[in-house]
Amino acid sequence: MTKQVKKTALSGVQPTGKPHIGNYFGAMRQFVELQNTYGGFFMIADYHALNSVQSAKDLKENIVDVALDYLAIGLDPSKATIFKQSDVSAHTELSWIFDTITTVAFLMRAHAFKDAEAKNKEISVGTFNYPMLMAADILLYDVDVVPVGADQKQHVEITRDTAEKFNRIFGETFKLPEALIMKDVGTVPGTDGQKMSKSYRNTIPLFATDDEIEKAVMSIVTDSEGGMPKNVYEIHKLFLPKEKLDQLYSEKAGKYKDLKEVLIADIKKFVTPLREKRAGLAKDKAAVIKILKDGGEKARAQAEAKMKVVRKNIGVSLY
Ligand code: AMP
Ligand code: TRP
Repeated sequence: MTKQVKKTALSGVQPTGKPHIGNYFGAMRQFVELQNTYGGFFMIADYHALNSVQSAKDLKENIVDVALDYLAIGLDPSKATIFKQSDVSAHTELSWIFDTITTVAFLMRAHAFKDAEAKNKEISVGTFNYPMLMAADILLYDVDVVPVGADQKQHVEITRDTAEKFNRIFGETFKLPEALIMKDVGTVPGTDGQKMSKSYRNTIPLFATDDEIEKAVMSIVTDSEGGMPKNVYEIHKLFLPKEKLDQLYSEKAGKYKDLKEVLIADIKKFVTPLREKRAGLAKDKAAVIKILKDGGEKARAQAEAKMKVVRKNIGVSLY
């Protein structure tokens, strides 16, 4: 009988600020489910974050914060590899190799770049190249699935295209990964109805205090349509089964304040144990740092083995 080889899942979160319920329901919740059946790699994308966090103090704190977030939602270092990107220099090395086979025109089609351009931002080369580093993150580990929110779908497609192109030029080297997106979640809206995002000040933090939950929910914009506050409903749907939700919203049609109060209670019920668990873990930072260090070593061993093949296939390996 042939041995069943475990499939591999990899994902990452940028250490750019507090995670919100959109991050959790859109992506992070899947990490916890996957770690039981897949070989899991869960990364802190600190080199990606360097495009926007350019303070050593902040970046350091944010990195430990994401590690705590991962542990608090239930990632288990005895099952999955939890590590930070900057501990495995193969990521930036492979990203450079991908830069050389990728055209500027191709990367200009990326949504993240187009959004930045539309906002007339000064765009760093790192922001432009972002998808190449993400492709390297994934392709180094022969990944089968990439659990992410809907907004990252294009990045995974770019990763597949890059793997195919490399394989075409240099011979079969990389496995093509699939994005794994929670169909029933999609993109979680923020309190203003736009996509919930750390950079828009429209979030409900995943580890929010009661006060933060109350303020955030009360600030949800309620554009009325037949007594149905769409933004409140879209967020509430993450916390209640559809039947219960629809019954509640028909019973309390038009009563926005009541609906918001129920939502506050439902979020508190969900967030309180997570917040308490995280506070407990935060008491032992040394333990968290050790988990990252060990995870980095494990990831590095695997990535280095892959880089040996890559270097050989591109022709820089002489001894
Ligand atoms: P980031 O914080 O940008 O590194 O995102 C971490 C993960 O959360 C990624 O897989 C994103 O796709 C996902 N994500 C971010 N914002 C949302 C949202 N509003 N709805 C659903 N998923 C999201
Ligand atoms: N780009 C992802 C985001 O902003 C974070 C990320 C970096 C990632 N590298 C990754 C996600 C590799 C999945 C796989 O959310």
